[in-house]
Amino acid sequence: MKPRALIFDCDPGTDDAVALLMAFAHPERLNILGVTTVGGNVPLKYTSLNGLKIAELAGREDIPVFAGCDRPLVKHEYLSVEQIHGKTGLAGVSFPEPKRALESEHAVDFIIRTLLQSSEKITLAVTGPQTNIAMALVKEPKIVSKIDEIIFMGGSITEGNITPAAEFNFFMDPHAAHVVLSSKIKLTMMGLDVTHQLVTTPARLKAIQSIGNKQSQAVFDILSFSGAYDMNRYEIEGGHIHDATVTAYLLKPELFQGRECPVDVEISGQMTMGRTLVDWYNSNNNETNVKVIRSVDIEGFYDLLLECLKKYS
Ligand code: BDR
Ligand code: CA
Repeated sequence: MKPRALIFDCDPGTDDAVALLMAFAHPERLNILGVTTVGGNVPLKYTSLNGLKIAELAGREDIPVFAGCDRPLVKHEYLSVEQIHGKTGLAGVSFPEPKRALESEHAVDFIIRTLLQSSEKITLAVTGPQTNIAMALVKEPKIVSKIDEIIFMGGSITEGNITPAAEFNFFMDPHAAHVVLSSKIKLTMMGLDVTHQLVTTPARLKAIQSIGNKQSQAVFDILSFSGAYDMNRYEIEGGHIHDATVTAYLLKPELFQGRECPVDVEISGQMTMGRTLVDWYNSNNNETNVKVIRSVDIEGFYDLLLECLKKYS
């Protein structure tokens, strides 16, 4: 089967790095046309550099990396989360300086150009604030018909993680999320409800490390660093894995269950900015716009993660 054409938009970021390493391991399944970066977990200069570093770690210097937007559509107090990802976004691992430079084209222009020129539909994997995608949709609405599907990590049916109401990616750029949610593109949402089920227990981390290649060691180090924060905050025995759910869904959608729902995001609340509104029961029979994933085969997910990392051996 022909590999699926994909653009990966992200803010690496510890768990974005894991998501990318899983995707980079499967060139026969995923034809990654480019990685586009956005400011989020840490500022854009770091997320972009990290995109290059992760591609090199994976031996995927064939994949170009494009820097995008460094602030949300509507400016608000910037909240980077260095306590989780470290100052440079990839704490826990020391990477050599990348040999390659970033592409000179802006990520938003790359997304538009690639979609318009493509003879096939392209999937977008989105694991950071959705600023680049919203900018592209507003600048060139014709791209809508060229997007096969957007699979994103963001939002939550229940609790928030950056505020009591909001998940981080939606909170960072709620207006961008609103543009994407109202785009009529096929959307699949990996929210905190599912990512919080994937706890990196010591046994799971050990299984990752015992693969014994440099990519699995990097994932072990990254998840150990970010996991320490989650263990303390949530009083659980490991950390959460968020963004890798997007790659896992691309590779093995049967691991996930959810349903089509009407979904929106709060863009004017004082205390609830970025809150996801998922009408899980759709009592009023409103139009649905998102497949909301709510459960995951946890062991199946970790088996897939191990399988991806073994491909580097
Ligand atoms: C999301 O926020 C970021 O910190 C992670 O990389 C993930 O994309 C989880 O809320
Ligand atoms: Ca992310």
